[in-house]
Amino acid sequence: MKQCIENPNELKWDEFWASELEQKKDRGKDWDKAAEGFHKRAKKDDYHDALFSKLMLDENDSLLDLGCGEGSITLPLALKVRKVTGVDSSTKMIELLNQRAENKGIDNVKTILKPLEDITYEEVEAHDVVLASRSLNGIIPIKKTLEEINKIANKYVFITLFGPENWKIEGEFNEYLGRENKHFPGHNYLFNILFNMGIYANVERLDIKAYREYDSIEEAMDNGKFRLDLLNYEEKAKLKEYLEKILSKNPETGKLYNKKDKADWILIWWKKE
Ligand SMILES: C[S@@+](CC[C@H](N)C(=O)[O-])C[C@H]1O[C@@H](n2cnc3c(N)ncnc32)[C@H](O)[C@@H]1O
Repeated sequence: MKQCIENPNELKWDEFWASELEQKKDRGKDWDKAAEGFHKRAKKDDYHDALFSKLMLDENDSLLDLGCGEGSITLPLALKVRKVTGVDSSTKMIELLNQRAENKGIDNVKTILKPLEDITYEEVEAHDVVLASRSLNGIIPIKKTLEEINKIANKYVFITLFGPENWKIEGEFNEYLGRENKHFPGHNYLFNILFNMGIYANVERLDIKAYREYDSIEEAMDNGKFRLDLLNYEEKAKLKEYLEKILSKNPETGKLYNKKDKADWILIWWKKE
């Protein structure tokens, strides 16, 4: 898609966003299949603490958690607010969340099984705070979804998106395979889409300190970021070979690591006027 630029503020950032996502063939993940592994890996880095330290929540607030997943964000937040509505399109994720809420005796969480693209103000109604943690990167009708989110929020909206360095070792593996590396559209697109909607958001890079550590090469291969479901037998063997090359053993913990293997998340948030 080509746009002739005379006035940069007229750029249709949502069209660039959509066009890049459409070209990114590995953008969609089967979250039902990934749910158990995602849950096992949750809390392996300090993303949760970094995010929690930035949210502005009051004990009387209602919170809408979009792309809530299996609840590693939703459930701790349910203890801090009056009520939470979690929305996710993965049956497995919602089942895990509901089961975990029951086990923990948390009874102020309601879930809705639905694609985020289809949420409307009329259905979910107003909430004080809307959070979309690590769930908007693959949404194509992004402007419409953001408009709905903005309508729903009474006080604040918090969104986290991949930062530019999130896919470092995965990108290098693609180069190693001789494959083209297609990126997700950058967080600057989303900032500009909001800007053109008249929403002047704050942008912060979360300070994630911990790099990932693994007990084995197999665990590193299955870190949730390499798309094992899209790799053939030979490519999996190459991935093993690549990881053997780049991972070192931490003499103190005995675990495998590479300092570049770290999450990079950008927080975009705004206050409703
Ligand atoms: C990376 S997980 C994030 C889970 C949780 N918010 C967190 O930060 O730990 C992404 C979640 O978003 C959900 N998701 C992704 N795309 C979605 C969509 N279009 N509609 C609804 N849920 C979606 C997935 O099912 C998954 O549970």
